[in-house]
Amino acid sequence: MKLKIIKDSNPIMKKKSLPVTLPLSKEDQVLLDEMLEYIKKSQDEEYATKHNIRAGVGLAAVQVGILKRMFVIYYVKGEDETVQYQLVNPKIVEHSSKKCALSQGEGCLSVEEDHPGIVHRNYKIKMVAYDALTKKDIEIIARGYDAIVLQHEYDHLDGILYYNRIDSKQPFEQLANEQLI
Ligand code: NI
Repeated sequence: MKLKIIKDSNPIMKKKSLPVTLPLSKEDQVLLDEMLEYIKKSQDEEYATKHNIRAGVGLAAVQVGILKRMFVIYYVKGEDETVQYQLVNPKIVEHSSKKCALSQGEGCLSVEEDHPGIVHRNYKIKMVAYDALTKKDIEIIARGYDAIVLQHEYDHLDGILYYNRIDSKQPFEQLANEQLI
């Protein structure tokens, strides 16, 4: 495994990533493939233990030291639905006023310490992006957990970490229109 995950103590994690030139270069495609492979393998318990890596569902390019607006997502949902993307230049074009948050809080491959608290997210978003996996411009409408994962990864492109969205004074204060999931 060639990729090395950058920790949040590294100042690069607070930087804004730059738009990616399309059509995608071979180099960028190779990077996205390696990132997706990393996330898939991180969910293989035996592999993860052997290589001492943590399980993740998403990874942004900045987390491997590349300031480009792209990230990958991979997880199995329910019985047999796999959610997977290699998103390039994503934009959130619409979002609900309704909020949501994970009751267990969020985690991040770049963050080793615990940051307890409610990470406020939009319940529903519409995202547009180029998906290098299907080689298409796509529009994603996501709710709940799916929307949270997309927003977490998208935030990395703007140098924002999940704990930046926890109210430091009232970390467990739920918003009025916020659903815990
Ligand atoms: Ni993260």
